[in-house]
Formats: sequence, C-alpha cells, structure tokens
Amino acid sequence: MNSTSDDRGKSEVSFTVNGERKTVFAFPMERLLDVLRQRLGLTGAKEGCGEGECGSCSVLMDGVLVNSCLVPVLQAEGVNIVTIEGLAMGTRLQSLQEAFLECGGAQCGICTPGMILAALHLLSKKPRPALEDIREGLSGNLCRCTGYAQIFEAVANAAQRNTSP
Ligand code: FES
Ligand code: FES
Repeated sequence: MNSTSDDRGKSEVSFTVNGERKTVFAFPMERLLDVLRQRLGLTGAKEGCGEGECGSCSVLMDGVLVNSCLVPVLQAEGVNIVTIEGLAMGTRLQSLQEAFLECGGAQCGICTPGMILAALHLLSKKPRPALEDIREGLSGNLCRCTGYAQIFEAVANAAQRNTSP
C-alpha cells in the first residue's frame, strides 16, 4: 500500500485479521474499532459505550479478548486479530450460533458478536465450564435485552454439544 498526501501524520500499521495480512495508514491513536469497521469493512464488532465497559466491540488479539474501542491501532502492529467475521466457518461458532438461536440468546444482536467471541475464548480455555465460569467469562460483556439467563444457557448448551462424543 502506497501512502498519499492524506496520510501525513499517519503511520503504516500491518497486522493479520481473520487470516489476511492488512496494512493501513492510520493516526497512531486511532481506535482499532474504527479501523476495523470503517477501513476494513468488518462491521461485526459494534460500538456500544466506546469506553471499555460493554464488550460489544470485542475482538481477539493474539488470542486475548480485548475491547477494540480502547486499543490504539498502533498496538495492533504485527498482531493476529480475529473478529466475528473470521469465525463464520468454525464448527464451534456454529454450535454457539445454533445454541444462541435456540435459547433466545440473541435479540437485538448488538452484544452478540462480542458475547460469542467471549464465549469462544472461554470455551477454548474451559471446554466444560460451570455456570460460575460462564458468568465470569462473559462478565465484561453487557446485554440490555436478554437478562443474561438465555445467553448463559446458550453457552452451556454449546459446550455440551462440543464435548459430546
Ligand atoms: S464499545 Fe468498546 S467496550 Fe463498549
Ligand atoms: S441482545 Fe440486545 S444487547 Fe444483547
């Protein structure tokens, strides 16, 4: 990617997102959330609070769940990022998607991408989580619609599907 006069003051930042190498010219403190959504067209991560409180902007950076509204894009240099779009073909996502649908875990859908990434992160560490583990694992993600019970049930349900022989 070549820089232009519009790129003055910006830095070149390269990272991998959903398995594809990307390079952007961005102001160092630009939010990763904005770069993903506005420059790369990855609108799965949502802006809720913009202050690190709601988790709707969650993505994985080198396997760590982060709030992309709090991450300056410069911190993404060389990092492997996974967004909800990158999980579309994963079998574990399918289990979670089915479970969220069946249990009523997705209503308006604003929190759902972040919830699913948080749930995947949890299940990768704890394939058979207890209810307390699910509560803890999803504690950084807020939902205004469901009252959480359906979401916790969906994660437990998906864990059962994934670990059933
Ligand atoms: S929008 Fe990032 S935590 Fe709420
Ligand atoms: S489904 Fe609407 S915020 Fe969670």
